[in-house]
Amino acid sequence: EKGGYDYFMLKEIAEQPKAVADTLLGRIDASGSLTLDEVRISASELREVDKVVIVACGTAFHAGLIAKYAIEHWTRIPCEVELASEFRYRDPILDARTLVIAISQSGETMDTLMALRHAREQGSKVLAICNTNGSTIPRESDAVLYTHAGPEVAVASTKAFLTQLVACYLVALYLGQVRGTKWGDEIQAVIRDLSQIAGAVERVLETMEPVRELARALADKNTVLFLGRHVGYPVALEGALKLKELAYMHAEGFAAGELKHGPIALIEEDLPVVVIVPSPRGRSVLHDKIVSNIQEIRARGARTIVIAEEGDEAVVPYADHLVRIPATPTLLQPLVATVPLQVFACELATARGNEVDQPRNLAKSVTVE
Ligand code: F6R
Repeated sequence: EKGGYDYFMLKEIAEQPKAVADTLLGRIDASGSLTLDEVRISASELREVDKVVIVACGTAFHAGLIAKYAIEHWTRIPCEVELASEFRYRDPILDARTLVIAISQSGETMDTLMALRHAREQGSKVLAICNTNGSTIPRESDAVLYTHAGPEVAVASTKAFLTQLVACYLVALYLGQVRGTKWGDEIQAVIRDLSQIAGAVERVLETMEPVRELARALADKNTVLFLGRHVGYPVALEGALKLKELAYMHAEGFAAGELKHGPIALIEEDLPVVVIVPSPRGRSVLHDKIVSNIQEIRARGARTIVIAEEGDEAVVPYADHLVRIPATPTLLQPLVATVPLQVFACELATARGNEVDQPRNLAKSVTVE
């Protein structure tokens, strides 16, 4: 049942290109337009939406954080992302023009379910992004967009996360399409790029041996930090979460721009710091800022593990370890940048003798609040 892999997690990491492709299947037509028939909220209702609120927990919350960048950029609709467990307790402002998106692999997470119930009581429409057919969250939502990751057995979420990202991009692009925003051309181009992205994920998987070696070499460390900017920031949070839950290490993700506001004090000799570098094309100003962050932490002794696009030469002098990922449009980079972090956490956990598929104290679906 593990298909020749030692752990479900390894199998599920390897299944990601297929999971991504399956989640796109049938949703982009020959003309490059999106068809999301399952979203049973009418185009006219979607044109009325004046705010999007995303609720989710853990890894699904990180997918939501990335979705915010895509939704606001492609649709110009303000988008908030909130931990489902915090949402209803602060009396959030919601009405019939708010579209709430609940993201959940299992469809049974109690915090997320309570958040969506609260949203519907306030008259908002709820769209679920879910991997489990017929589970409670999609049943209680107004509409559902299923991710097609297939069953995820390992407690730590991997392939479900990538498909949640794909579903979020689809929703963002669809909202942009039905509302006819000024990004029409960019949206068409991204839809084309998205249809190629499974191949890019596959290419990342083929180059992971040095990442495994590095993980083994760092098995006796106590702390690993992760830095990112823009959509790389939630990727940093996800990398840190994977390492906490699997390797039981102290791991923290930061927005690289926050470094100088405190976290840089943590940098000491030989501390491993993983940096997710934005594309030097696109928002290149962010790229240049993060390169100076890498310089700064390296000057203070950090061991820099740099995840950067193929062809990005500016990072080379400051990278103790360089992990290459294929060039993608800026907003899609998390689909390729997350993969090395999953492999890193899985290998580090194994090297520390931990139970990868079944980490201590954790359950696959959290059905209590
Ligand atoms: C992390 C992880 C958890 C889940 C979270 C939400 O690897 O698996 O953080 O992402 O418990 O679960 P779902 O998506 O089932 O609502």
